[in-house]
Amino acid sequence: KPYSAIILAAGSGTRMAADRNKIFLKLADQAIFTYSLNLFLSDSDCKSVILVGKAEEKQYFSSYLTDRVTFVVGGDERQDSVRHALSHVASSHVMIHDGARPFVTLSDLIYLKAHTNAILAVPVKDTIKEVCDANQIKATIPRQALWSAQTPQFFDTSLIKTVHQAAHDAGFLGTDDASLVEQFSTVPVTIVSGSYENIKITTPEDLIFGNAILASRLTS
Ligand code: CTP
Ligand code: MG
Repeated sequence: KPYSAIILAAGSGTRMAADRNKIFLKLADQAIFTYSLNLFLSDSDCKSVILVGKAEEKQYFSSYLTDRVTFVVGGDERQDSVRHALSHVASSHVMIHDGARPFVTLSDLIYLKAHTNAILAVPVKDTIKEVCDANQIKATIPRQALWSAQTPQFFDTSLIKTVHQAAHDAGFLGTDDASLVEQFSTVPVTIVSGSYENIKITTPEDLIFGNAILASRLTS
């Protein structure tokens, strides 16, 4: 299935508390966002990559732009960044990916592409507690049905464009793209079992985990 990939890099990395947008931080000798960029470029089904960044950071992406890689200015919220990028997607299918997830693999992409409207996710490992205001436990949520959503998330382009516009019109802010399909369509979204290594680099300790994942891949 030919598709376009959207790589989101227009955040601020507030929780990383670094001196710059976290996606420019290096793991080994490479900026975090370049790992997934190179992966998508290695997939022959990926016809174009849209790098979404802040206008004032465009210069830092310029050396990566080619016939196949274009730059789009993001928005205030992740959802705004996705919506902006979607208006530039020409392919029938689209992969929406966090630039802060460097460890997605080609086999993840192959499993995901086997479906339409599907996301990578992993079973929740922790026991999840629902708490009330005073931090008293209200309930333990049965874990069998719980998955942690990851990216990439793979969609029919016209469907995801439609639900993004509907969410925008309704002032609805979801935490991932699948949630907009859930909210504004009746189309089912499939969970594809991914890897626990496909972490999102969010807080400083994730750099430690990230370096460990890289090291284990180099020796395997
Ligand atoms: N992102 C984006 N546009 C935004 C906000 C986020 O493109 N307005 C991107 C980030 O660059 C990141 C991905 O969405 O690759 C996932 O978001 P998150 O991990 O929350 O990154 P940040 O928003 O940058 O981090 P924080 O929430 O800690 O500020
Ligand atoms: Mg954020």
